[in-house]
Amino acid sequence: MKIVIRNNSSEGSLWAAHYIARKINEKAARTSEPFVLGLCTGSTPIETYAELIRMVKAGEVSFKNVISFNMDEYVGLPESHPESYHSFMHKNLFDHIDEPAENIHILNGNAADPVAECAAYEKAIVDAGGFDLFLGGVGEDGHIAFNEPFSSLKSRTRVVTLTYDTRVVNARFFDGDYTKVPAQALTVGVATVLSSKEVVILAFGHKKARALKDAIEGPISHYCTLSGLQDHPAGTIVCDELSVSELKVSSYRYFKAVEEAEGC
Ligand code: GLP
Repeated sequence: MKIVIRNNSSEGSLWAAHYIARKINEKAARTSEPFVLGLCTGSTPIETYAELIRMVKAGEVSFKNVISFNMDEYVGLPESHPESYHSFMHKNLFDHIDEPAENIHILNGNAADPVAECAAYEKAIVDAGGFDLFLGGVGEDGHIAFNEPFSSLKSRTRVVTLTYDTRVVNARFFDGDYTKVPAQALTVGVATVLSSKEVVILAFGHKKARALKDAIEGPISHYCTLSGLQDHPAGTIVCDELSVSELKVSSYRYFKAVEEAEGC
């Protein structure tokens, strides 16, 4: 696992945007096959998306041959609801870039048959060729996508019940009232994320420090589903100084030494 530590969230966000753009451009230079990209929501990726938008407008990258799949969506929230992940993605990315509408995939949290919806999503990912890169965030309890503690590390796309913790944390988007946060979601599984050739996770701010300590220094465990990344051959966590404040000094120094020696 590679840990990229930047001074603050803005520097980390820019690093991630430029890294993703470089990967898209590198694939475009060698093949006409689409770049298959996993995407996340939350407050964390907003600056990365803003930089990607700037780069598209400046002609530095194009999403014309990108196929994207979002991680998750609430169950039962209308797509038009301002806090649905459909709304979030259109507002913060899709409405401003050149990705064709038919290339955009987001789970339908209002599907009549959610089980069939999840199975079709997994199939669509395979049909697209599998993920080149999955961009994710992390919950304060270490969850990836909506894979709450005790999700199998072999899980695939499915319906999940959110923890009280997650609903309370996300209540900030729902008038501070956790009962307004949907109790269930559709989410890609831990194994779906880890099936990607490469995984890049963003984690900024002190509130993510405990999750990063568990994910980086703790055992691989269903209690902190981000820890599954330890088993991935190409996993990177992009952090800021605050989010690594719970790491051992020796771990921190090692990651900084790697950055200096290998350049990131
Ligand atoms: C939700 C999403 C996750 C996201 C997490 C963190 O739980 N399902 O994908 O990583 O929130 O959100 P934020 O970036 O706002 O801290």
